[in-house]
Amino acid sequence: MALPPFYDKTNLMQTTSEKLFWAALCGAGLLAAQGPRRVRLNEQDVAEGRLVYNRSCTVCHGLDGTVGDRGPALAGARRYLRRTEEDLLDAVRNGIPGAEMPPAGLSAADARKVVAYIRSLRATASDAPAPGDVTHGQEIFWGKGGCGGCHMIRGRGGITGPDLSSVAAQRTLRALREALTVPRPHIPRGYQPVDIVTTGGEIVAGIVKNENNFSMQLLDSSGKLRLFTRDELRQVTYKKDSLMPNDYDRQLISSELQDLLAFLSRQSARKERE
Ligand code: HEC
Ligand code: HEC
Repeated sequence: MALPPFYDKTNLMQTTSEKLFWAALCGAGLLAAQGPRRVRLNEQDVAEGRLVYNRSCTVCHGLDGTVGDRGPALAGARRYLRRTEEDLLDAVRNGIPGAEMPPAGLSAADARKVVAYIRSLRATASDAPAPGDVTHGQEIFWGKGGCGGCHMIRGRGGITGPDLSSVAAQRTLRALREALTVPRPHIPRGYQPVDIVTTGGEIVAGIVKNENNFSMQLLDSSGKLRLFTRDELRQVTYKKDSLMPNDYDRQLISSELQDLLAFLSRQSARKERE
């Protein structure tokens, strides 16, 4: 199975941040007291389920459920056919008839643990909000962190980065922490930073919003959308790094980062995307 070059690195990072994720969960006392929408998961089961998963399921679903090769990634941001505990158990124990998914041949206990692991991968930040001082986190977002210069929340803020009003309903806590602290393996579509030089000699820095063989649309650094045809461009330099800083574990002290995550993991304004 051909793996992309960042594969091992990604996996290592997940292992570390998974620990942080569970540390945060336990800190919240989440396992003790939860609302009805919360995912109730046993930490031990999840850890053991991860081992079983990485032994039995990676051939098709990718290590740690992130990159599917012959089967779907089980932890991605997509709409799954099987979501409930029972449906997942059924798929794992009996396979999926008519598809390339064989029965796993696991003991009942192992099957249950794998399911706990899959559910832990899918839990969004709003299912398991990080502990911390939310009000202080909000102050850091608009102040010291400088996040509001690039991101909008509920109509306030900048447009360089994505709107974060419902980010906690879309991302796991692990993904939020990684967005702030780990370099991206690739820059998401719509946020590729670029420097261009036009045939007229104008230099423009911005992010690529759309491009094809004939034209390129940029959001320039002053926040204006500009459209260029390819023959107006003398030089195009795609930057390697996202504009999103990934060193907030150094820019902020750890309690500030924690409070910021507490604030972010409560941004779950309902916005239908699918
Ligand atoms: C031989 C390849 C293969 C192996 C091994 C495999 N799967 Fe699958 N799995 C698939 C394919 C293909 C699908 C998609 C079937 C479909 O969507 O109809 C799938 C679907 C699933 C789904 C449903 C995804 C959804 O959309 O709801 C779950 C859950 C799942 N697999 C879990 C596992 C687990 C856990 C293991 C290991 C115990 C495992 N699979 C091993 C190929 C495999
Ligand atoms: C200089 C502009 C800039 C600043 C400052 C900035 N971001 Fe970002 N951020 C971006 C861009 C651009 C992206 C999208 C590209 C990417 O993900 O790398 C992004 C992505 C993100 C994502 C991922 C969103 C998703 O849907 O996965 C999160 C979360 C995030 N930023 C939070 C923050 C927080 C919190 C701060 C402040 C501590 C911050 N950002 C500061 C530009 C910025």
